[in-house]
Amino acid sequence: MAGVTRGRFITFEGGEGAGKSTQVRRLTARLRERGLDVVATREPGGSPGAEAIRDLVLKGEADRWSPTTETLLMYGARRDHIERTILPALERGAWVICDRFADSTRAYQGGAGGVDPAFISALETYLLADVRPDLTLVFDLPVEVGLARAEAFAASAGHAETRFESKGLAFHERLRAAFLAIAAAEPGRCAVIDAAGDIENVETQVWEAVSGRLQDRG
Ligand code: TMP
Repeated sequence: MAGVTRGRFITFEGGEGAGKSTQVRRLTARLRERGLDVVATREPGGSPGAEAIRDLVLKGEADRWSPTTETLLMYGARRDHIERTILPALERGAWVICDRFADSTRAYQGGAGGVDPAFISALETYLLADVRPDLTLVFDLPVEVGLARAEAFAASAGHAETRFESKGLAFHERLRAAFLAIAAAEPGRCAVIDAAGDIENVETQVWEAVSGRLQDRG
């Protein structure tokens, strides 16, 4: 899409219970107050077909799908989301704020699940095309804190934990390390957010990362 006016694409990433969804809402509101056209969306999901796949992949026993099958389901959902929601929004100049994207597959199915990174990277090459985040905020916090928050949230919302929340501490420690490794490998794209603080503190960090890194790029 070189040469056309294209919106910015910001992704929020991290483990369970990091508070990403709240911060997606707050950032969306702040950018809209500044007059920007903003589309807030999520993965897996964000289009009718991808939301149907979300139900399949998040519900049921932890071992309902193998990590390789999960990778394919995530990419089926992601491709539909890109074609129907993300790309049309970016092409009309909107900013897209997405709760999880391709780094979640690298970290959950790759780093924590053991799927070959070369396979995931080949899927990225074929299926993401040039839809790559301009900025990725990696929410980091101790695993026990995140899992306790996710559990409390599920209980208050009256639903069971998702397949991924029930995968055990060792899985979630590998997951945290995988996200931090992605951020360390791509410091130009990624900013690590300390998600252990309160909502206002995290909101300030998010705003500093967004305004600091994206304002000079139009
Ligand atoms: P969330 O809405 O709480 O973020 O739940 C989505 C779950 O799906 C979360 O446990 C992470 C998982 N997931 C993957 O395993 N791989 C992916 O590529 C994506 C987008 C999500």
